[in-house]
Amino acid sequence: MKAVVYLPVEDKTQWWVEMLQSLLPGWEVTSMDDPGDPASVDFAVVWRPRTGDLAQFPNLRAIVSIGAGIDHVLADKELPAGVPIIRTVGTDLTQRMREYVALHVLRHHRDMPRQLQAQAEADWHAIVVPVAPNRTVGVMGLGNLGAAAAQTLAGLGFDTRGWSKSHKEIDGVTCFAGTEGLDAFLDGCEILVNLLPLTDETRGILSASLFAKLPKEACVINCARGPHLVDEDLLAALDGGQVKQATLDVFHQEPLPADHPFWNHRKITVTPHVASQIDAGTGGRLIAANLLEFAKTGTCNDVADAARGY
Ligand code: NAP
Ligand code: GLV
Repeated sequence: MKAVVYLPVEDKTQWWVEMLQSLLPGWEVTSMDDPGDPASVDFAVVWRPRTGDLAQFPNLRAIVSIGAGIDHVLADKELPAGVPIIRTVGTDLTQRMREYVALHVLRHHRDMPRQLQAQAEADWHAIVVPVAPNRTVGVMGLGNLGAAAAQTLAGLGFDTRGWSKSHKEIDGVTCFAGTEGLDAFLDGCEILVNLLPLTDETRGILSASLFAKLPKEACVINCARGPHLVDEDLLAALDGGQVKQATLDVFHQEPLPADHPFWNHRKITVTPHVASQIDAGTGGRLIAANLLEFAKTGTCNDVADAARGY
């Protein structure tokens, strides 16, 4: 079996080639930029492949996304049709997202930005907030990550809601579903967490019209994908006070350009797509296991539904 690897972030491709080669004895693992005979390639393991990268391999059996989202693969306009896409998911990724969401929801809940500002002014300003059961938080997307995040927030005592495409039952979480359930989900939601996949239905969902349905001074946390957010609408909502604070981990362009207004906005916290970056060793083992399973059986647990986009 032969697998090619492409991971442009911090030029990590060669490191991943060697790691996967060590986990797949008997396989040939190479960089996608040095694939040998394209017809001999069975699998491609990628993060943000370039347009046409994958079309060069006529016998590709599956594409592995180094991550939970598959939007970066589907974005390739020349993507070969019908090739299964395998997600990389698991407890490492879920745990990291639980931590990130808990950290930033609690930060907004306790109004830490205001508290830190008071400290900077040597101002003994006690900010008293409602207890968590009197604070309504909502998670958009109730898949692997969203459901885990919602359970974590419910465990902290928050009045927790979730929204997904099909209806869910999650202990301690009030669940809403579909476009018909969106307004009720948003109504009264003081801290909103986005963990939707990026699809044609969800692109631009964090927009002025959605912010207007939240209570005034709501907080927004986007840890899914940059294009979920309409940047100008967030800036306007922050300026107008409809949104009080935002935490953004993902952006239209990554790295976020140095001159982007988000960097220095006093109501925005920027993190560099680290909410849940899978540990490379753990990710490598998950990917190797999925490749071995797929090579043997023609499928594996983590095959995404490419037609629906996640
Ligand atoms: P997932 O398991 O595929 O779950 C997606 C959830 O979104 C499902 O509950 C789905 O509803 C819901 N959904 C999809 N389209 C919808 C729509 N139009 N309306 C309402 N709900 C909709 O995804 P995941 O593994 O939890 O990951 C979610 C996203 O997080 C990824 O796609 C990726 O973009 C992002 N992510 C970010 C980081 C980071 O570090 N920032 C790390 C990992 C992942 P159904 O269950 O009804 O289908
Ligand atoms: C990261 O963003 C992922 O999709 O896993």
